[in-house]
Amino acid sequence: MDRIYIKGRKTLSGEVEISGSKNSTLPLLFSTLLAEGSHTFHNASQVKDVDTGIKLLQSFGCEAYWKGTSLTVIVPDKIENFTAHYDLMRTMRAGVLCLGVLLSRYGKAQVSLPGGCAIGTRPINWHVENLKKMGAGIEIQKGYIYGKSALPLKAAQIKLEKPSVGATQNLLMAGVLAEGRTEIQNSAREPEVVDLIHYLKKMGADIEGGGTSTITIQGVSSLKPSEHTIIPDRIETATLLMAGAITLGEVGIFKCAPSHLTQVIEKLEQSGFDIQQGEDRIHLKSPRKFSAVNISTSFYPGFPTDLQAQFMALMTQAEGESIIEECIFENRFMHVPELMRLNAHITTHGNKAHIHPSPLKGAVVMATDLRASACLILAGLAAEGETYVRRVYHLDRGYDKLESKLALLGADIKRI
Ligand code: EPZ
Repeated sequence: MDRIYIKGRKTLSGEVEISGSKNSTLPLLFSTLLAEGSHTFHNASQVKDVDTGIKLLQSFGCEAYWKGTSLTVIVPDKIENFTAHYDLMRTMRAGVLCLGVLLSRYGKAQVSLPGGCAIGTRPINWHVENLKKMGAGIEIQKGYIYGKSALPLKAAQIKLEKPSVGATQNLLMAGVLAEGRTEIQNSAREPEVVDLIHYLKKMGADIEGGGTSTITIQGVSSLKPSEHTIIPDRIETATLLMAGAITLGEVGIFKCAPSHLTQVIEKLEQSGFDIQQGEDRIHLKSPRKFSAVNISTSFYPGFPTDLQAQFMALMTQAEGESIIEECIFENRFMHVPELMRLNAHITTHGNKAHIHPSPLKGAVVMATDLRASACLILAGLAAEGETYVRRVYHLDRGYDKLESKLALLGADIKRI
């Protein structure tokens, strides 16, 4: 079991390039099942979850191969297997996205329930009830979702209770080959949803309203494979910015998309950091000390829940008390007890955490989920002495060689 070792209090400086977005690569991988032939994605994320997604596609009879960070997926005209097995789904929940594409193109699917994960139960009721509205018969038994539908699926008027990213993506991929005009109201606006829409349109889909809260899809009879450059990972971008910030350093981030991080940049500026933005770069300069800032996580374009833990680590070093409210997932404070092992002073009341500044001291801590592992690494960078972060398999699910990028910026960090 790998661990990450950090000797804290090194001031980070220098420049680093961002990898492709994990949360865009995954839905794009599954969208290939909508069109036979060879699909190529450039700047694809090379994290563990993407490996798992590729294994899922291979289990359906697809081929996939890498050339640098370009990933080619070859989809056969027919697939024999329609089952997404639990052993592949239990670690990578986004596999539920193959439900929509299998029903859309083949009219049948057997997808393991993705299972909860540390941050919450992660239900898929909005995916299921709306696929039923589109004519799919869906049963859930023994941990599997059994889907069957006559083809083509029927267009539907859909109104999501909340702008769920996964539900929007599943229903998009169900709608592109459905008969008629599907409308998704209160749809998610995340850049990873917009990136998927860009690729679906390159394949010949007829979609309007990407990035807004109402998406309309005019179904077409078939789609063709295409090529696409995947957007940079906004969560990795902000994680590296916060690494520069928590060490009072000065970092330049390249090959990123500043426009995807407006709220986060605003909060860092409010806290006292000087941020210069270019087309595909962000430069952060730290003040001698920075102020506490409150955040509430929300759907895009609000403050991302995937950056809540990292921002909490940063606020342990701010001047004054800050309040962090987690409004998306019901159990996303598991990093709090681990931060307290590093001498952080945090109290939680329901979905609110109160952070009081305190000098962090190195210790052995345990990652509980993907973004918590990044939070603990950031805290280790600021802590006096040595920190060991255990269970880094969580980190590898969603970050591509994060410790090497941090070492490039001058951190004393290594994997052991
Ligand atoms: C995506 O998860 C991301 N994962 C998550 O990133 C991210 O935290 C989340 O969106 C919110 O931005 C991928 O893109 C692979 P949701 P998703 O459906 O689609 C509830 C990371 O760290 N809900 O937008 O599963 C749900 O429980 C991961 O990279 C229902 O109740 O998130 C949650 O409270 C973590 N019923 C809220 O909606 C449903 O049918 C938002 O979930 C679906 C969702």
